[in-house]
Amino acid sequence: MVQRRIPRIKDLAPLMKFKAPELNAKKRRLDAALTIADLRAIAKRRTPKAAFDYTEGAAEAEISLGRARQAFEDIEFHPSILRDVSTVSTGWDVLGAPVAQPFGIAPTGFTRMMQTEGEIAGAHAAARAGIPFALSTMGTTSIEDVKAANPNGRNWFQLYMWKDRDRSMALVDRAAKAGYDTLLVTVDVPVAGARLRDKRNGFSIPPALTLGTVVNALPRPEWWINFLTTEPLSFASLDRWSGTVADLLDTMFDPTVDFEDLAWIKAQWPGKVVVKGVQNLDDAKRLVDLGVDGITLSNHGGRQLDRAPIPFHLLPQVAREVGAHTEVHLDTGIMSGADVVASIALGARFTMIGRAYLYGLMAGGEAGVDRTIAILSEQVARTMRLLGVNALEELNPGHVTQLSRLQPVASQLVAAAEAAPARKTPARRASVSASATVTGTPVKRAPKEAIAEQP
Ligand SMILES: Cc1cc2nc3c(=O)[nH]c(=O)nc-3n(C[C@H](O)[C@H](O)[C@H](O)COP(=O)(O)O)c2cc1C
Repeated sequence: MVQRRIPRIKDLAPLMKFKAPELNAKKRRLDAALTIADLRAIAKRRTPKAAFDYTEGAAEAEISLGRARQAFEDIEFHPSILRDVSTVSTGWDVLGAPVAQPFGIAPTGFTRMMQTEGEIAGAHAAARAGIPFALSTMGTTSIEDVKAANPNGRNWFQLYMWKDRDRSMALVDRAAKAGYDTLLVTVDVPVAGARLRDKRNGFSIPPALTLGTVVNALPRPEWWINFLTTEPLSFASLDRWSGTVADLLDTMFDPTVDFEDLAWIKAQWPGKVVVKGVQNLDDAKRLVDLGVDGITLSNHGGRQLDRAPIPFHLLPQVAREVGAHTEVHLDTGIMSGADVVASIALGARFTMIGRAYLYGLMAGGEAGVDRTIAILSEQVARTMRLLGVNALEELNPGHVTQLSRLQPVASQLVAAAEAAPARKTPARRASVSASATVTGTPVKRAPKEAIAEQP
């Protein structure tokens, strides 16, 4: 029988931990977000459907993006015990200059459409955090204004080669004059991917006021007030456009761009050149031959070719084969600091975040981007400590096993092994995965069938 008694005030007092309520609603909202998924939920509530879907969506059936995220979930970390991890350093040099975190802000188009503070919010937050900010050719803030928002930090300019070469090179010139240190040349957009959500929503620039958008606006007044009471949308690099996004992209992108064009662009740029959108080892090697400073393994956040290779799965082999000659960066699917740490362990020098940044922006403008960076930074440092490492240099492939769900079918491996060199990718995968060794320490083997398709 439990003996009961009357509760005494002096026993209750230590349990009473009432805090002064946070009066700033935005701060309250953002502080309550503990993960990027939490920020996404806030963003969704506060952003009109067409703009949210433009950000969140991917191409066709959105399989590339789902697989890329799944690949990050399908890993096993291997920690070491009894290491002194009282200090941890999350920075190192990327493209010859320091970064405070192993991730930066990826270039995104139409950013002020998601939330009116747009690129300026991203550039300020990047400046505070000591990480690079990349401005898109399709950005909604001028090259010079972004530089002014991040005057002492690192600004990267992302170039789409347009049909109108003079106009593209005029942009490159402006970015060089403004002091951008890196040109990110995006090469996975010979034509626009099929963003079906945008088509279904009739997403246009600027947004059209239809009955549907007005009804959708009612519960999201702050977005509309911001939109209507700040500078109208203008673009980093192009004149006003009114039409659908797909039409705009198809008018601009040049499907004839090739390696020679890239060499020509590289010759015009005084700083570092990184090619974004690399999706196989052969192309990575050709780029090394061209002397680029870095490559970004990326499928554009799943927004171009659907069912494209998973960049994180390409990483180990590409890093192993070309990592000594060029920096290997990675994006697509990153939703946590642990994803970033896994990428560094498997050979990436740097990673970039697209939607994770935009969810923060939509959830709370500049303070929301700060929150994204804070969440990811805490996760990076905590994951490193739990793995038993003090510095990024200590991360190695032994810390991560990629577990695979999707493997090439057996008959294809045989066919691919006999095929022309250009079609050998699956065979290469097979031979590597058959002998998949987890290098470095500590080594913990996963069950045989679960060992990574380490391409
Ligand atoms: C809304 C949105 C707009 C984008 N616009 C561009 C762009 O203008 N240029 C570019 O090179 N990549 C663009 N990207 C791709 C990102 O730079 C990056 O590759 C991708 O977002 C990474 O995947 P993640 O969103 O899963 O992090 C865009 C991505 C999103 C989500």
